[in-house]
Amino acid sequence: MVTGHVFIATSLDGFISTADGGIEWLIRRDDPNEDHGYNDFIKDIDGLIMGRGTYEKAISFESWQYTIPVLVMSRTLKSKDIPISLKDKIQIVDYSPIDLMRSLDAKGWRKVYVDGGQVIQSFLRDNLIADMVITTAPVLLGAGRSLFGALSSETSLTHIKTTTFPSGLVQSKYRVGGK
Ligand SMILES: NC(=O)c1ccc[n+]([C@@H]2O[C@H](COP(=O)([O-])OP(=O)(O)OC[C@H]3O[C@@H](n4cnc5c(N)ncnc54)[C@H](OP(=O)(O)O)[C@@H]3O)[C@@H](O)[C@H]2O)c1
Repeated sequence: MVTGHVFIATSLDGFISTADGGIEWLIRRDDPNEDHGYNDFIKDIDGLIMGRGTYEKAISFESWQYTIPVLVMSRTLKSKDIPISLKDKIQIVDYSPIDLMRSLDAKGWRKVYVDGGQVIQSFLRDNLIADMVITTAPVLLGAGRSLFGALSSETSLTHIKTTTFPSGLVQSKYRVGGK
């Protein structure tokens, strides 16, 4: 079965954006001279599943930053809402996480990048995430959109490695599953 993989940054208090979706606190701390492993992560990923919240932030930037196919999970957006220039790069999908993963599996996909707080939470609840690379920024936001949320049961993780960067970012990789 195709596997889900997370690569995301969070504040130390667990927020991936401010309440209005802002990530300036992160951009400010992203030192371009540091290699945080994104290119290495993305190289064997077949495509990206993101939530509507993440999509709305992504299209607010000057240019589209993804070179892999992007599937936007939404029950409210329709194909006609996608800008014409991005029609061949983005698909809106309205499936459950498991049905979406089955359809990608049938297409021969092996690894998908799963992005957006709510979407990651629902994939975790359905046990569709294999591993997570979580980069923690040295900031407390106090409020915002959460990376993690309620689960139906305890979910054990196995720590793979932690890397610290001069900028103060701390990156840890976990496999989902363990004791
Ligand atoms: N710090 C980082 O590295 C990082 C990374 C990614 C994103 N972000 C930020 O995070 C924010 C977005 O995160 P978010 O948690 O608000 O939203 P999200 O997970 O990106 O999107 C949530 C939306 O996805 C749709 N959806 C459809 N099916 C779903 C399902 N099964 N489970 C969950 N959602 C489903 C819903 O939209 P409909 O109402 O249309 O159905 C829901 O409101 C943005 O501000 C973005 O900039 C930060």
